Amino acid sequence: MRSAFGVEVEIQTNPDPDLLQKALTLFDVPLYNRALSMFPLWQNIKKFFDINPIQHVRYFEKLGRKVLEIRKKSPSGRRDLFQLMLEAKEESVKGTQKLTDEEIIAQTIVILAAGFETTGSTLAFTAYYLALYPEIQARVRQEIEEATKSHGHTSTLDFISGLDLEYLDRVISEVLRIIPIGFVNVRQCNESCVIKGVHFPAGVIVNIPSYAVHHDPEFWPEVINTNLY
Ligand code: HEM
Repeated sequence: MRSAFGVEVEIQTNPDPDLLQKALTLFDVPLYNRALSMFPLWQNIKKFFDINPIQHVRYFEKLGRKVLEIRKKSPSGRRDLFQLMLEAKEESVKGTQKLTDEEIIAQTIVILAAGFETTGSTLAFTAYYLALYPEIQARVRQEIEEATKSHGHTSTLDFISGLDLEYLDRVISEVLRIIPIGFVNVRQCNESCVIKGVHFPAGVIVNIPSYAVHHDPEFWPEVINTNLY
């Protein structure tokens, strides 16, 4: 909430049950939605019925609008993402406003959706694999302890982001390789083209299976690579 909307909600010490429930079920896409999305006609049906792959969009739109009003009336004094968008709203390129109110609200929803589940799942899976591999956990711990020691034991988030935790970086990369949070990437073909003998007509939706690529035995002969050096 702090990075997306620039507001302090103290979600861990004083949780808002409604907001929490909606944020936790953001990607609980109903089964009929998943099943129907396999058919080309789905593109038209979902527009007609206002169906979205992200749940509770109207709720977050209302929330984004409220935050926008608050931030317009009382600037936070912080140069966070919301502030940058508010500044872009005041600028224009060739007479066109860079960002409108609607676009700012849309961006906050995207950032909340893109940042919440991805970060949470990555942290959960990293903790899981560290529990499975205590020797790797010990190495990560040692690296963090050495780095904090050399920085006088201060430990705020801003401080951690400035550290060079190379081994931890490798561990998280391997976790994301085994469990790619974005397990499929979707792109639409702008122009008709042929790649390696396969014809892709313009407009076709292409699903790129990141999970399968990450587990291709040609590149990754081991299921889990514990040799991270
Ligand atoms: C470990 C955490 C994260 C993972 C694994 C992750 C993964 C991804 C992946 C795979 C994509 C590409 C999707 C595609 O192009 O089909 C993506 C895009 C994006 N992510 Fe993340 N993400 C993470 C954290 C975040 C956070 C914290 C934010 C924002 C606060 C964020 C914002 C975005 C945005 C805005 C896009 C769309 C970029 C674009 O299409 O131009 N992500 N992320």
